[in-house]
Amino acid sequence: MTALHIVPAGPAESAVLSALYESAFGEAWAPDQLAQLLAGPGVFALIGLDDAGVPAGYALGRVAADEAELLSIALLPDHRRRGEGRLLLDALMERSAAAGAATLFLEVAIDNAAALTLYRAAGFREAGRRKGYYKVGTTTVDAIVMKRELAPG
Ligand SMILES: CC(C)(COP(=O)(O)OP(=O)(O)OC[C@H]1O[C@@H](n2cnc3c(N)ncnc32)[C@H](O)[C@@H]1OP(=O)(O)O)[C@@H](O)C(=O)NCCC(=O)NCCS
Repeated sequence: MTALHIVPAGPAESAVLSALYESAFGEAWAPDQLAQLLAGPGVFALIGLDDAGVPAGYALGRVAADEAELLSIALLPDHRRRGEGRLLLDALMERSAAAGAATLFLEVAIDNAAALTLYRAAGFREAGRRKGYYKVGTTTVDAIVMKRELAPG
């Protein structure tokens, strides 16, 4: 059974978000940089807590006028493939629509099968490509830009 309790987060939770990011991606995102991002206009964060109240994943978004962007989403490795990514994404879409967004955009690396499957299953469609968008070591990976209309919040 999937159980994830999703709560809003802000700059005060930047250390928790930074730790989740590092566990998920294996690289650092400094808490002070995250806090600065979270203090920016239209930026919001959601944290998914497991049954014991322990942070298991997050989603970061930004809303500007009627457009929203998924900035980052991740789960700890042992929480994947249980539908929890979909729960976080649904919550982010709901929060974006409630803030007035009609469309949600995101970028995903062309080789990220898990994320691509999640986004396609959630109704996102390809809207473009960005060549060499992600740096991986000494090479680059293209990004697919995806978008989805949101139901009014
Ligand atoms: C991307 C991520 C958030 C997906 O979360 P998740 O909880 O594993 O996804 P879900 O269990 O909700 O699965 C959603 C769909 O993707 C599929 N899926 C999940 N992992 C998959 C994988 N490794 N390969 C193929 N499909 C996968 C599921 O089967 C499901 O499809 P369905 O709805 O057709 O059954 C998670 O894999 C993750 O944290 N990855 C590392 C961070 C990352 O890459 N973030 C995205 C870029 S910012």
